[in-house]
Amino acid sequence: MCGIVGILGAKPVAGDLVDALRRLEYRGYDSAGIATVENGHLDRRRAEGKLKNLELRLSNHPLQGRAGIGHTRWATHGRPVERNAHPHMNGRVAVVHNGIIENFQELKGELAAKGHEFQTETDTETVLHLVTDYLDQGLPPVEAARMALERLSGAFALGLIFAGHDNLMIGARQGPPLAVGHGEGEMYLGSDAIALAPFTDMVTYLEDGDWVVLTREGAEIHDMTGRRVERPMVKSIASALLVDKGNYRHFMAKEIHEQPEVIGHTLANYLDMAAGKVVFPELGADLAKISRVTISACGTAHYAGLVGKYWLERYARIPVEIDIASEFRYRESPLPEDGLAIFVSQSGETADTLASLRYCKAGGQRIASVVNVRSSTIARESHVILPTLAGPEIGVASTKAFTCQLSVLACLAIAIGRARGAVGADQEKELVRALTEVPRHLTTILRSESLYESLAVSLHKAKDVLYLGRGPSYPIALEGALKLKEISYIHAEGYAAGELKHGPIALIDENVPVVVVAPENDLFEKTVSNMQEVAARGGQIILISDATPDKAGCKLQTHLQMPHAHPFISPLLYAVPVQLIAYHTAVVMGTDVDQPRNLAKSVTVE
Ligand code: M6R
Repeated sequence: MCGIVGILGAKPVAGDLVDALRRLEYRGYDSAGIATVENGHLDRRRAEGKLKNLELRLSNHPLQGRAGIGHTRWATHGRPVERNAHPHMNGRVAVVHNGIIENFQELKGELAAKGHEFQTETDTETVLHLVTDYLDQGLPPVEAARMALERLSGAFALGLIFAGHDNLMIGARQGPPLAVGHGEGEMYLGSDAIALAPFTDMVTYLEDGDWVVLTREGAEIHDMTGRRVERPMVKSIASALLVDKGNYRHFMAKEIHEQPEVIGHTLANYLDMAAGKVVFPELGADLAKISRVTISACGTAHYAGLVGKYWLERYARIPVEIDIASEFRYRESPLPEDGLAIFVSQSGETADTLASLRYCKAGGQRIASVVNVRSSTIARESHVILPTLAGPEIGVASTKAFTCQLSVLACLAIAIGRARGAVGADQEKELVRALTEVPRHLTTILRSESLYESLAVSLHKAKDVLYLGRGPSYPIALEGALKLKEISYIHAEGYAAGELKHGPIALIDENVPVVVVAPENDLFEKTVSNMQEVAARGGQIILISDATPDKAGCKLQTHLQMPHAHPFISPLLYAVPVQLIAYHTAVVMGTDVDQPRNLAKSVTVE
């Protein structure tokens, strides 16, 4: 969603605000803006589109204030045009906002009746008028902000500065994350620690309902009841260097290539490789007694969970219930006694996943989260964190976070299987050995990237692409289709191969490429039959398999040869070719790979 930043600096802050926004741009990139207090007056620059447009505007019309706020927008209310870009501002106050003010219509009606004139289509503008209304009543800025916050409902992170107050900034958090950064005679506010990484590594994460009064001397934090509270200052591990593209053309390419390394780190966190055992953190529940596992997540993280279901059911012999979080949260699903609920999220901030977590927690489930951001809300509200060690993922299309999520879920399946007696010591050794081979196999797969470049040249002409897979390859087919549509804008669908004849086969003709994810396992022959049904109707087959092409028994447009490996680790390996197909197709099409249209990295609204 949107990214917000604020700086109370010792020198003019516009340059640093833009620098921070650059690191937040992955959260939203419809428009951007900054406002500063200069000689007691508020002034702002905004621009539609990418941050570079704002930079250009600032180079022609610089801002000199030492107190400022900035914003990069993912539009919710109001079109992505300059008029709706943040900061919203009048002569007295400027505001940046991430999230949704749910009662904005009601507030807007009330404020309009009092004579406030609205200039934008945004929900955020109500915050501006509300604070101004309290200032008009004679309240000082901090009090006016406090009163306004009490009236707001919804999910929001806010940053406010005031005319005539060069040493004051208010931040507030209800839902979306907000961090306070502590510098030497300077203070910062940011949607995440990565934004603040070049300025400070000492951060305080606000809790839900907190609001903070910042001056250059420090931060006074209040909880939702208005009580002064202390929140810990922690050393952030976000480093400015980690969010560099290196020699890669896109973050996504870098992140795809980082997978052997980050999967290695993640596995090392859960495996004793020498002993051939899984070493899992205490879940605080007797794994042998868990009655059911409930998994909930969104998008790519949901597909990771779906692979987890196949693994948990097959290897741990435990029933698994899984749903996308936006559905699960409202389904009123009955929850079992002794249930374990797992939430998978790269950002740890996805609103629907968080709401599902709270539902399960209220329903007495043991809560474990597979998250990449350990300081995130989902992590903090879980009983146990099962971290992925993917490092910051900047490309909006998730790649390395996905395979690291798979790595954790694979280890979890072994751990639960062992506790339930479904996985014996020998099988555990075999599965652990297979997992340790993943980084090596991925390195091999990544060496054949030129094949994907050639494939993309033909694939980019397609209007529709189908992805097929069976068993744990089915979620990989879904993930492949999601990746392709996200970044190349080509319509793509993933299907369970066996489902093809129940409808989707009607779409097949010689113009429809069909990507078949088919490791040579116990389901391979079945998938081959489905592939032949496609071939008989002229479909262009792209087979991803460790089987030799002759085993397909039909004409292939492309065969992407995979290394032979244990069937357990296939999802981890086959995830990478579908990422490479999407990436290279998008590159040929010339789309904005890292910041595809309409998407945002962290979805903190429903
Ligand atoms: O941060 P999360 O893992 O909770 O995000 C969930 C989805 O929004 C995310 O996976 C999304 O589908 C990605 N853009 C997919 O590439």
